[in-house]
Amino acid sequence: MNALTQLLGTEHPLIQAPMAGVQGAALAVPVSNAGALGSLPCAMLSPEALERELTTLASGTQRPYNVNFFCHVPPEPDEAREAAWRAWLTAYYHEAGLDIDSVPPGAGRVPFNRAAADVLERFRPKVVSFHFGLPDLDLLDRVKSWGSVVLSSATTVEEARWLEAFGADAIIAQGVEAGGHRGMFLSDDLTTQSGTFALLPQIVAAVSVPVIAAGGIADATGVAAAMALGASGVQVGTAYLCCTEATTSAIHRAALQSEAAHHTALTHLFTGRPARGIVNRVMRELGSMNPVAPAFPLATAAMAPLRAHWEAKGSGDFSPLWSGQNASGCREVSAAELTRDLVQGFKNPAAR
Ligand SMILES: Cc1cc2nc3c(=O)[nH]c(=O)nc-3n(C[C@H](O)[C@H](O)[C@H](O)COP(=O)(O)O)c2cc1C
Repeated sequence: MNALTQLLGTEHPLIQAPMAGVQGAALAVPVSNAGALGSLPCAMLSPEALERELTTLASGTQRPYNVNFFCHVPPEPDEAREAAWRAWLTAYYHEAGLDIDSVPPGAGRVPFNRAAADVLERFRPKVVSFHFGLPDLDLLDRVKSWGSVVLSSATTVEEARWLEAFGADAIIAQGVEAGGHRGMFLSDDLTTQSGTFALLPQIVAAVSVPVIAAGGIADATGVAAAMALGASGVQVGTAYLCCTEATTSAIHRAALQSEAAHHTALTHLFTGRPARGIVNRVMRELGSMNPVAPAFPLATAAMAPLRAHWEAKGSGDFSPLWSGQNASGCREVSAAELTRDLVQGFKNPAAR
């Protein structure tokens, strides 16, 4: 037991990272049942889908689980930027025989809102985590009013202090090795983003709530190392991507287990926010941080038909192949088996 397991109500201070688009309750249930914290990513779920997934989760485990939301501020649509973005993509639409004018602009991911809170209230999950800061105070107060523990990601010491001041019960220190979206919310300056082992001890020193290490942790040795640097627990994402219960596509699984996974970069081409993924054709040709891409999450709409077209042909050239820098833990095993392997890292004498 440590401060984090007390807070989360779990046997082990291990969190399976919520990963929107590649997993649902089917992955979270066995993780929670193995004594860690399974997570349900909700950034792309309608209220109906959220209700369905929560029902599966609640009926699959009696143990604590985590429900995760994005809490970005939706941008004002910018017609000029959208047009410039489409101009960059036009040649790809021609190549694929698709009509770019028939693609409606659209959001793609909605932030935590009242409708989601209404569904969530019926389930009162033990833990709710957020990415991109915290929701407005009235929504945060609602989540806390039914007793949920609140977590959020910090990518800098400044963000960690901010999260503690505004009510996070524990903080996920997300190093730049991490797969998927950077949780950054106070700055969009990528020079502020540092590796897990640079960030973690600085955040541990700066806040008094438990700190959870995330980014690049793929096995029990990595878990032990993070604990030795002062983490109260760890959050692991990429290593779960090839688990049998994940919904990761065959194309994405193959890339994760190939040489391609040694080449990752931060890109905002797929959504409008920087996220780490395996380098593919569109990232190479447009530049992974091309300033023309619309603000999050508006870049998603015009990229989606290209992704669907090429995936149907077996290619991930236009897909977000999210991956951290350490994909060495990706194996086709059950989530329970991976969880059991990872928690061996807490047996290290350096672990607290
Ligand atoms: C495919 C994928 C999707 C992700 N989606 C989310 C998400 O929906 N919400 C979230 O808070 N974090 C998300 N993350 C980030 C993780 O919470 C975590 O920071 C990261 O996986 C840790 O680094 P690792 O991938 O090296 O283990 C995602 C990560 C990956 C790999």
